[in-house]
Parts: sequence; structure tokens; C-alpha cells
Amino acid sequence: SEAPASWDKPLAGKVAVVTGAARGIGATIAEVLARDGATVVAADIPAAGEALSETANKVGGTSLALDVTADDAGEVLSKHLLERHGGADIIVHNAGITRDKTLANMDESRWNSVIGVNLLAPQRITEQLVASGALKEGGRVVDVSSIAGIAGNRGQTNYGTSKAGVIGLVHASAPVLAQKNITINAVAPGFIETAMTAAIPFATREAGRRMSSLLQGGQTVDVAELVSYFASPASNAVTGQIVRVCGQSLL
Ligand code: NAI
Repeated sequence: SEAPASWDKPLAGKVAVVTGAARGIGATIAEVLARDGATVVAADIPAAGEALSETANKVGGTSLALDVTADDAGEVLSKHLLERHGGADIIVHNAGITRDKTLANMDESRWNSVIGVNLLAPQRITEQLVASGALKEGGRVVDVSSIAGIAGNRGQTNYGTSKAGVIGLVHASAPVLAQKNITINAVAPGFIETAMTAAIPFATREAGRRMSSLLQGGQTVDVAELVSYFASPASNAVTGQIVRVCGQSLL
């Protein structure tokens, strides 16, 4: 086959949902998908408030208050997408949280909240969007894992487990979703400069940056560009893949 003349606006005509879009990596994903031509539905928890509408306005999209862990999250999102847009083409499960503690102090509520947001919500929402037809045939699912799910990270047994679970989820879902010509892939960021990583203690933060062979933290846009690739027709034949954005070749 021939290479297209250019990839100017590869997502033109596509509707994309980005969860956790109020700030950080999610806000930049919304920006990059919109730049590449998508109509963006920016979703985040109600508490995200103004920040969410700011993202939506910046990218010329719309905002949706959605806690991904709500029992009816998949149903609410399906209804919204079918009514307003006739369905969506792309879902990016970016919403994620950390509740760090040493393993001895890792109580059950920290396990449940982190597994709930980072692993169960992407699975349930994808399943419901596919069942309702709100994610169209030929659609794209992009999950967000982490280097912590591959290499592990002190104080993050709950988080690392949730992000390792996302890798299993992608592998297990790929052949199933392929029946509807839907691809599913994940980005696995290393240390990215966001509010999430600004909150960790200085020494740990510096160590995180030095884990990269490039010896610096990544930027949100580094992750967003890969998400856009997974969402675009350029990756038609790519599914079930986990790609690290962490400045490291070995781990
Ligand atoms: P962040 O904390 O800056 O932003 C996360 C967003 O998700 C926030 O706007 C928050 O309100 C939203 N969110 C949290 N719980 C939610 C829920 N229940 N429903 C809907 N939205 C919810 O985090 P950051 O750094 O931008 O991370 C984004 C994703 O990338 C997360 O999945 C995170 O685990 C992952 N990641 C981040 C890395 C980093 O170095 N910053 C490294 C590897 C992965």
C-alpha cells in the first residue's frame, strides 16, 4: 500500500473522550488530540471544577463531570456520547491516582481506591461503551499504565499492581475487541513532570528523574503524542501493545 501524502489532522471527524482531562497528562492529551483534528469530550471528577472547563475551552471541546468509579459511569458516558455525538471513536483512560505507603502500612482502603480508579474503571467503562455501541466499530482504546507497573516502585505496591493490571487488561482485551475492529494499547510513562510527581518528596523525585537514560523527567506532551498515534489511522495494525515513554531502553 502507499503511504498517505501527509498526516495533517489524522483524527479529523473523530470524537475522543479523555478521562482525568482537567490537568497534567490528561489535559495535554486533550490538547494534542484536538490539534490532530478530534472533537474532544474532556471528563474529570466534579471536584476538578474550573480546571476542567478550562481544558475543554482551550481545545474547543466539551466537558463532562464524570467520576470514573461511579457505578453508572459507563452508562452515563454511553448515553452522553450517543445523544450528543452519535457515539465516540476514541476513549483514553487517563484518570489515575496514587495512595502511596510502605507495604506494612498499606491498608485496604488504599488498595481499593487505587485499583478502583486505575484498573477496574478502565475495564468497566470500555466494556459498557462497547456493549452500548457508544464506542464505534473501528474505535480506539488507549489505557495509561506506568513504568511502576513494569519495574515496581517503593511505596507503590497498590499503584504498581494496578498499573501492571492494566498491562494484563490490554493483552487480554486486544483479541476480544479486535472482533469489532477496535484496537487497545497502553502508554507506560516513566517520570513525567506533573502535579502528581511534584507531590512526591524531593529526593525520590530526583531519583525518578535519574532513572531515565536521558537523565530528566519527561513532559506531558511526550506521552500525549504517543496517545495520538494509538488513536490515529497510522496505528491501524497495532493492538495489544504497551509502549514506554520513560527514557529507558532496559528494564
Ligand atoms: P494528575 O494527578 O496530575 O491528574 C490526574 C487527573 O485524573 C486529575 O485531574 C484528577 O482529578 C483525575 N481523576 C482522579 N480520579 C478520578 C476519577 N475517579 N474520575 C475521573 N477523574 C479522576 O496525574 P498525571 O500525572 O497527569 O497522571 C495521569 C495518568 O498518568 C495517571 O493514570 C497516572 O497514573 C499516569 N502516570 C503518570 C506518571 C507521572 O509521572 N506523572 C507516570 C506514569 C503514569
